[in-house]
Amino acid sequence: MEKSGYKIGSGYDVHKLVSGRKLIIGGVDINFDRGLEGHSDADVLVHAVCDAILGAAGLGDIGDHFPDSDPQYKGISSIILLGKCGCLLKEQGFHIVNMDCIVFAQVPKISPHKRQMEENMARALNMDSTRVNVKATTTEKLGFIGKEQGIASQCTLLVKTGQPGI
Ligand code: CDP
Ligand code: ZN
Repeated sequence: MEKSGYKIGSGYDVHKLVSGRKLIIGGVDINFDRGLEGHSDADVLVHAVCDAILGAAGLGDIGDHFPDSDPQYKGISSIILLGKCGCLLKEQGFHIVNMDCIVFAQVPKISPHKRQMEENMARALNMDSTRVNVKATTTEKLGFIGKEQGIASQCTLLVKTGQPGI
């Protein structure tokens, strides 16, 4: 690993929207009639952020570290996995400068929850929430997202060597 510098990471994830599951996005339990299917809590936003962190660190992806075949991750809060990804990044000598995320969802309305999502993820990563941005968009009723079959998320982030603020 180089002594100083910046690296970027990107992450993308999709989960199926189904009946009978909680809808957890960015660590927020959103009151909705459907939820996301998955082995963990299926937090599609947090999974994209985990992948972006692991990508920036050059450490593969979320499936390499937390395989969905492993029973210890069944139903786990993805916020816990995010904290572990933050620790892996720190072990590599990096901290996150900023992250910018998008939730692609036709329903429900994400904007009332964006600030809380930013705070939840910032807290898990031990960083200032002003450096975390969450955006949302529909896909204008087009495709699997627009037809309410699934929700997708994307994250781009920048990491830097050393301690935050230095
Ligand atoms: O093209 P644009 O993303 O501006 O339009 P849109 O998809 O209709 O979304 C309009 C606004 O609604 C977005 O800028 C988000 O702030 C918000 N939004 C939301 O809160 N929840 C969603 N599931 C989708 C969009
Ligand atoms: Zn996922």
